[in-house]
Amino acid sequence: MSLRLGDVAPNFKAQTTAGEIDFYDYLGTGWGVLFSHPADYTPVCTTELGKTAFLQEEFKKRNVKVLALSVDSVEKHNAWIHDINETQQVTVGFPIIADEDKSISHAYDMIHPHASETFTVRSLFIIGPDKKIKLFITYPASTGRNFVEVLRVIDSLQLTAQYSVATPADWKEGEDVIVVPSVSTEDAIKNFPKGVTIVKPYLRYTPQPNK
Ligand code: BEZ
Repeated sequence: MSLRLGDVAPNFKAQTTAGEIDFYDYLGTGWGVLFSHPADYTPVCTTELGKTAFLQEEFKKRNVKVLALSVDSVEKHNAWIHDINETQQVTVGFPIIADEDKSISHAYDMIHPHASETFTVRSLFIIGPDKKIKLFITYPASTGRNFVEVLRVIDSLQLTAQYSVATPADWKEGEDVIVVPSVSTEDAIKNFPKGVTIVKPYLRYTPQPNK
């Protein structure tokens, strides 16, 4: 059965470009992003791993550990990293898993046989400090992911884990947020001293509370 939101992310041990790791130990008490790509030495994947490396400081600021995966070997990953660093002008500093026996790919449902029998699709999981799955998204091989969107979702997840708010369409860090429906307007006015704008009884905005 495939994983769903709120499920516990399966733990695993893996061979990676940073040696053998235990997934939970690697994540520690922070957040995690685990993402698969179809294969090494492919153009879109090269740009995706480059973009992730470029954004490494942004992930770190948010206490997020990143981990990539494909079914290629550690040796192949290591050789490919040279190309990524050269062509994308970055230094890949996160581990890439060599899931040669596909055990992790299967546990995370990253192989979609109607897309490819052998390669992983572009799946991405955001995992919370409680080791539960907060988001998953799957792109086809032909479409590279938007990693700025991944950071945006992490900002939303971290904010909404702390406050009784949700974030509207296209929200970005610093913009107004929505008071969740389970909070009465009376409580919202008490809890959000920066003010509550009531557009409809079910649509109430407040400035981002932690800004
Ligand atoms: C790529 O990453 O460039 C790619 C991988 C598989 C199919 C098409 C593109």
